[in-house]
Amino acid sequence: MCGIIGYVGKKKNAIHVLINGLKALEYRGYDSAGIAYMENNKINIIKEQGKIKNLEEKIDFKIKSNLGIGHTRWATHGKPCVINSHPHKVGKITIVHNGIIENYEELKKILIQNGYSFKSETDTEVICALIDKLYNEKNDMIQVLDKCRNLLKGSYALGIINDDQPNTLYAIRKDSPLIIAIGENENYISSDVPAILDYTNKYILLDNNEIAKLTDSKIDIYNINNEIITKKIKTFEWNIEKTLKNGYDHFMLKEINEQPEVIKDTLLPYISNGYKSLLNNMPCFKNYEKIDIVACGSAYHAGLIGKYLIEKYADIPVNVEIASEYRYKKLFINNKTLVIIISQSGETADSLAALRKAKEHNIDTLAIVNVVGSSIAREAKDVLYIKAGCEIAVATTKAYSAQVAMLGLIALNIAKSKKKISNQKIDNFIQDIDTLINEMKKLLKNENYLKIAKNIYNKNNLFFIGRKIDYALAMEGSLKLKEISYIHSEAYPAGELKHGSISLIEEKTPVFAIVTDKSIAEKTISNIKEAKARGAEVILIITDELDREADFYDEKIVIPKINDLFQPLLSIIPLQLISYEVAKLRNCDIDKPRNLAKSVTVE
Ligand code: AGP
Repeated sequence: MCGIIGYVGKKKNAIHVLINGLKALEYRGYDSAGIAYMENNKINIIKEQGKIKNLEEKIDFKIKSNLGIGHTRWATHGKPCVINSHPHKVGKITIVHNGIIENYEELKKILIQNGYSFKSETDTEVICALIDKLYNEKNDMIQVLDKCRNLLKGSYALGIINDDQPNTLYAIRKDSPLIIAIGENENYISSDVPAILDYTNKYILLDNNEIAKLTDSKIDIYNINNEIITKKIKTFEWNIEKTLKNGYDHFMLKEINEQPEVIKDTLLPYISNGYKSLLNNMPCFKNYEKIDIVACGSAYHAGLIGKYLIEKYADIPVNVEIASEYRYKKLFINNKTLVIIISQSGETADSLAALRKAKEHNIDTLAIVNVVGSSIAREAKDVLYIKAGCEIAVATTKAYSAQVAMLGLIALNIAKSKKKISNQKIDNFIQDIDTLINEMKKLLKNENYLKIAKNIYNKNNLFFIGRKIDYALAMEGSLKLKEISYIHSEAYPAGELKHGSISLIEEKTPVFAIVTDKSIAEKTISNIKEAKARGAEVILIITDELDREADFYDEKIVIPKINDLFQPLLSIIPLQLISYEVAKLRNCDIDKPRNLAKSVTVE
C-alpha cells in the first residue's frame, strides 16, 4: 500500500533508480505513480495515473539527476488522478507520503488562513505546506521535522526534498514502514527491501519518530530529542534471485510451487534432526488458559485453522478475531491470556493496533510474522518467524500455508506443556513431514485444475462449503478466488447454507465442497446433496480415505489423508491452483489485483 523510493548519490542516475524501485514496489498495490528529481538545482515532477509504464512514457531518461523521490499511490484521500498523485510540492518542499494524517483538515484550515492554497484533495499536500511554512520560520530542516512530528496526528512515512538543499534527502516515519539503504557514495530510502536489492542489501530500520538526513556520503539519524544516534546496520538475507519469477508466468504461481520448501524451512528450526521429534524452543505456554488469535484476511483464516488445532489437541479455548474489530471491542482477557497476532508483512495497520491494544492491557503477545524486523515482529513480546521468504503476489499462498504450519507446531507445544498429548503422538505427527512434503509436490502437479477452471471461469457466483476445519479452508479458497479472478463467491459452513443462502443456488451454480474431516464427513455430504438437489454443480475436494463413487458431485479432486495438523496444507493446494487458473482464463492481473495492496498499512 503506497510505495516510497528515494535516492541521493552521484554514482547512478536517480531517475533510473526511482523507476526500478517503483517497479519493485508494484506488488504493494497502487493506482497512480510519480517521481520528483533534481535537475540543475531545480525540482521536476512527473506523475501519471495507472501503471508505471504510463509514467515511464512521460520521462526523458537521458536527463541526469543525483537526487529524487518516487511514489506509488493507493488512493485514500481523493480519487486516483494525476493531481492527487505524489510527489506533491508546496513552496520549497517536495514530498512523498505513505500513511494517513488524521488531523489534516484542521491543519489545512490553519494553513489556508496563513495564505496557502491547495490543488489536490490529499492529506499529503497539507503536510507539504506545513513543512514549507515551518521551514520559512526556522530555516533548519531537523528543527522543522521535529516540530512537524509533534503537529501531525496519524501515520506517515515521508521522503522529503528541499529546493535549498539539492544534495540532501530527508525522511521521517511514524507507524508506516520505511528503511534507509546504504550504498557506497550513495544512499536510498524505501518502503521495503525489494526496491533496493539490485543495489545493496545493507539497511537501517528507521524507528517511529526518527528523522533521517541522507547525503551521498553520510546518513544521520536523529532520535526524538534531536540527538544523532547510531543505528544497527542490517543485512537482508533473501537474495534477488529468490524475488524474481524464476521462469513462472506469475509470482503467485511461483509462490504456490515454493510451498513444500517453505513448509520444510518453517518447521525445521522446531524439530530435531531427521524429522524425529519436537524441540523445546518455543515460548513457554504452560500458564495460558485462553488464547486470542488476531489477524486480517488470509492470516485470519490461518488463525481459524489454528483454533481448531489448539482446541482439539491442547484443550484450551481459542477466540479468533478480525484485527479491525478487535482493536475497538471490549476484550475479555487476563494475565492467563495469550494474544497471538498473525501477519505476513508485519506492518498491517489493524493488526499492529490490535497488538498495541493487548500490550496496553499488559497481556503477553506472540507474533507469527514473515518479514523480519517488521513493526509487529519488533513490538510483540515474542516472535516466531515463518520462513516463507519474499512474497510478492498480493494474494498470499506460501505465507498462509507457513502460518498454518506454525500454528500446528504451536498447538503441539501447548498440548505438550499442558500434558494433553503423549510424546509418542507428537513424534507421529513430526514423522509425517516427509510424507507431507512429497504429497504437496504431487498435488502441485495434478492436471485437473485447468479442466475445472474452464468449467467455472465464466460464472458470476459460486460457493465454498465445509464444516469445522474444512469451513476455515473454504473461507480461504473463496477469498483466493475473489481477489484474483473478481468472481463473487461466498464461503459457508455446510450446515448453514439451508438457513438462507441456498436460495441463491440455481442450475449449474458451482459449489466447492471440502470433505477432509472424518468425524463430520457424512453430515457435510448430506449438505452437499441438498445443494446438488437444487442444481448445484459440485466440485468435491475429498481425502482418499473418504472418497467414494457417488452421484452427488460433478468433479472430484482426491487428496491424500495425512494427520490433522498437516491436512490443511494439502487441502489448500487445489483451491489455490484452481483460483489461479480461473484468473488466468479471465486475463486478470493475477499478481496485482485491482484495488488491493500487499501490505495494508492504513486503517
Ligand atoms: C490475502 O491474499 C491477502 N492479500 C490479505 O487478506 C492479507 O492476508 C491480509 O491483508 C493480511 O496481511 P498481513 O498478513 O500482511 O497482515
